[in-house]
Amino acid sequence: MKKEKILIIGAGGQIGVELALALRSVYGTDNVVASDIKEAHPMLKDAGPYAILNAMDAPATLELIRKEGITQVYLLAALLSATGEKDPKRAWDINMQSLLQLLDMGVQEKLSKIYWPSSIAVFGPTTPHHNTPQQTVIEPRTVYGISKYAGELWCQYYHQRWGLDVRSLRYPGLISWKSAPGGGTTDYAVEIYHEALKHKKYTSFLSEDSYLPMMYMDDAIRGTIELMEAPIEQMKTRMAYNLSAMSFSPKEIAAAIQKHIPEFTIDYAPDFRQQIADGWPKSIDDTTAREHWNWKHEFDLEKMTAAMLENLAKGL
Ligand code: SER
Repeated sequence: MKKEKILIIGAGGQIGVELALALRSVYGTDNVVASDIKEAHPMLKDAGPYAILNAMDAPATLELIRKEGITQVYLLAALLSATGEKDPKRAWDINMQSLLQLLDMGVQEKLSKIYWPSSIAVFGPTTPHHNTPQQTVIEPRTVYGISKYAGELWCQYYHQRWGLDVRSLRYPGLISWKSAPGGGTTDYAVEIYHEALKHKKYTSFLSEDSYLPMMYMDDAIRGTIELMEAPIEQMKTRMAYNLSAMSFSPKEIAAAIQKHIPEFTIDYAPDFRQQIADGWPKSIDDTTAREHWNWKHEFDLEKMTAAMLENLAKGL
């Protein structure tokens, strides 16, 4: 079997840190090169190969791929939904340029696989919001969602035209304790755990009944690696797969926290992110992923809340 050597671009972000740690435990530390535009995240510092890399810098990316003998790339660098709305052109440039140049490198350098994340943000207000199917009306209203949907189409195109093996998941909001999220509409569901432990209160930037699809990071990482390891004949769609675990509202996550911290209180001050959340699905139908490559989530709200509070409390 051909030995894989993996490059992660954007390894300092919320997904990147945990994915780097997980991929290293599967493929061996020296076979996973982590890179980011910033200095290494504390969990990745002196823990394996690391490079400073701007995801927009094609010559530097190509040089690194050749120098390290890279065979697979995970491209995670992106501006998320809330940050993207502050500077739409910049979000489009970063999210699209980094992908398109990597797809070209994938063909040119004959990479065996590329991973590129999509998001529930591809869906918009005209999409059915309950049990949103894999194939449905897709009219995103944020620049982040537009870039993710365009990116999915480009990934499909490169597969069909050049045979490039690009795989993708439409992640729901991701909840993690090792690394912090940044610039997303679903970030409240991470902040709330930190604030519950530190201050026993939280002001949510989404209203109490704003349901959104969410997932614990352990499930997201396992799902990503399972997708990438699935035999190619199971990849029967080349658009990103819907992926689902749970859905809850700020009121419900607060109630789950109160079972552990009874004095915890929540109040609500919705801001511009409310409108983004209102355009997204409330729950996702991921039957296609479950059927094609046996996706199965493990964490629900109760189990995730116990894990988040326990792990975050250790760091206080
Ligand atoms: N968590 C992301 C965001 O809120 C969605 O992909 O932007």
